[in-house]
Amino acid sequence: MKYKLLHIHTIGCQMNVYDAERMAGGLKTIGYELTPFPESADLIIVNTCAIREKAEQKVFSFLGSLLTLKTKKPDLLIAVGGCVAQQEGRKILRRAPYTDVIFGTHAVGRLPRLIEQAELGIRPVVDIELSEQIEESDFFLKAVSDESISRFITIMQGCDNFCAYCVVPHVRGREISRIPESILEEIRDLVASGVKEVTLLGQNVNSFGKKQCLCSFPELLKMVSRIDGLERIRFTTSHPKDLSEDLMAAFRDLDKLCKHIHLPVQSGSDRILKKMNRKYTRDIYLEKIAKLRQFYPEIAVSSDIIAGFPGETRTDFEDTLELIRQVEYDSLFVFKYSDRPSAPASRFSDKVPDKEKKARLDELLELQGRYTLEKNQKLIGKTEQILVDGFSRKSEKAGEIQWMGRTSGNKIVNFTCNSDTGLKGKTIPVRIETAFPHSLRGTPVKTEPE
Ligand code: SAH
Ligand code: SF4
Ligand code: F3S
Repeated sequence: MKYKLLHIHTIGCQMNVYDAERMAGGLKTIGYELTPFPESADLIIVNTCAIREKAEQKVFSFLGSLLTLKTKKPDLLIAVGGCVAQQEGRKILRRAPYTDVIFGTHAVGRLPRLIEQAELGIRPVVDIELSEQIEESDFFLKAVSDESISRFITIMQGCDNFCAYCVVPHVRGREISRIPESILEEIRDLVASGVKEVTLLGQNVNSFGKKQCLCSFPELLKMVSRIDGLERIRFTTSHPKDLSEDLMAAFRDLDKLCKHIHLPVQSGSDRILKKMNRKYTRDIYLEKIAKLRQFYPEIAVSSDIIAGFPGETRTDFEDTLELIRQVEYDSLFVFKYSDRPSAPASRFSDKVPDKEKKARLDELLELQGRYTLEKNQKLIGKTEQILVDGFSRKSEKAGEIQWMGRTSGNKIVNFTCNSDTGLKGKTIPVRIETAFPHSLRGTPVKTEPE
């Protein structure tokens, strides 16, 4: 088979990172090997995100930058996949007429056949069909072994929640769960290749299995935690409305489950939550946080907040600030509200001016910055179990090696250790000595697992 080079440019969430691995795995079967260099590629895939306008702009500016390459090398194939491909379909050709293949979020399994058509000269090849089912075989395309010890794995596709601002249900289709046995098999394969940590992905993992009467999400976690050799389990995202006590109990009962939950609140105002179609109130959310902390007092909690949703008044915004003070999150992701044409909120009145959205975003970041640092400082003097990811980017002195890993609560820890091999993939105790806004620094107590 002729050897061809593939470059994938991924924008967007962890699901896209996982899909990129499936794309690379599938294309390997027709002779493509990955390259980090777009200039040397025979095929470039732009793996896109439509969550906010900015993400979409990034897609088109990257696509624009490929025109020069395509002009120099007319045989180069350009494919656009992911959420913007799903949303725009053929319309992508209006802005980037040199695109050869457009494939949607459910077409990843069919990608090798689509690329073969393009290789035969068919242009453009378009497949944006959304199906109601999952082709399990599409998930076994991951032939790519990278060196990472932590990997993502999609356990369910799509979303049925239709939050008023969100494009995801429109570009990823209806919620469908994968078969538990197939998920377990995939994780066992990953563990056999050296993976120590998996993050289970779904837009709302709490509803895993419900529609198809499969096992529940806490039951799935139990099964995953029985896999020998797997050390850590994480998951994202959990929708507050469906967070059950069974799942809370899993934090207490399953050693391998990392003690961190991402529980996006979006707003602290009941009026806005209703307009967002989030289906919980501020009080319900706060009760769930309190319950979680009864099950596992030290659990790290993070969240997403949207600043300047249509109709958000200063009073609504103050409610959000107050909720942050009450919860004291470990970390927070904040976004300026962005109109998505397929989402109903784009037609809501009382849009908040961009300047005001930016001011609110800055205020949120400023407030949270204090809590993040405080939470990090609280760890000083403690010994945390760190799963070592590998070398960290910066190396200060010659001969010294900078390592990096994460705590169970998902905080980044950097440390120095002169042993240059064998630490990666180990979970070791590290004494925390310094706290920064976005990371910690410490010294290993031992360089062997306890
Ligand atoms: N399924 C996840 C979220 C996926 S999208 C959940 O329900 O929590 C990730 C985050 O992007 C959301 O939590 C939200 O905060 C943000 N987001 C989604 N649509 C947005 C929009 N139109 N404008 C601004 N932020 C948005
Ligand atoms: Fe979007 Fe809401 Fe679904 Fe999350 S739960 S993906 S925010 S529609
Ligand atoms: Fe973006 Fe699609 Fe993920 S819109 S956030 S890549 S599901």
